[in-house]
Amino acid sequence: MTEHEIKIKFNEYASVEELDNQDKTLCAEAVKALATSHSPYSKFRVGVAMRLQSGKVLHASNQENVAYPSGLCAERVALFHWGANHSDDPIESMAVTAQTDEFELLKPVTSCGACLQVMAEYEKKQRKPIKMLLYCQGGPVWMATGVENFLPFLFFEDRLNHPK
Ligand code: THU
Repeated sequence: MTEHEIKIKFNEYASVEELDNQDKTLCAEAVKALATSHSPYSKFRVGVAMRLQSGKVLHASNQENVAYPSGLCAERVALFHWGANHSDDPIESMAVTAQTDEFELLKPVTSCGACLQVMAEYEKKQRKPIKMLLYCQGGPVWMATGVENFLPFLFFEDRLNHPK
């Protein structure tokens, strides 16, 4: 038996004020994106702002549906929009924030496994890791660059690309 240990790394900033101006602005853009959230079922709004290499900023939010599984997280709305429209302009960073009247949010929202798996695909496609800024309004920001810091056992099966 061999025991393996995987380390992940992220930085915690006590408040958004500790970030540099570019990242602080991106977090503010993620807050703006909350306004477009369609979340009548969970009442949990999630906003995303994505900064591209060109400097362009894309916005997205979670979109729910009365047939619950048909809805989509804000991160995947952002990522698939990028894949369909801007994939020649690499993603540099992505800020994610959440808001709800139902309970207090004390820590940043961390993206679900499905969103991380989609992010992994595009990191690989653009050959560049994405800086994630997970922003809790009035609280800390967690930052890490590269999806493997959030999903160390992500599914990468290169053999799928090399049929016999
Ligand atoms: N949600 C996101 O948009 N991103 C996350 O990182 C976590 C969850 C959405 C999905 C659903 O619309 C609502 O939040 C409650 O789960």
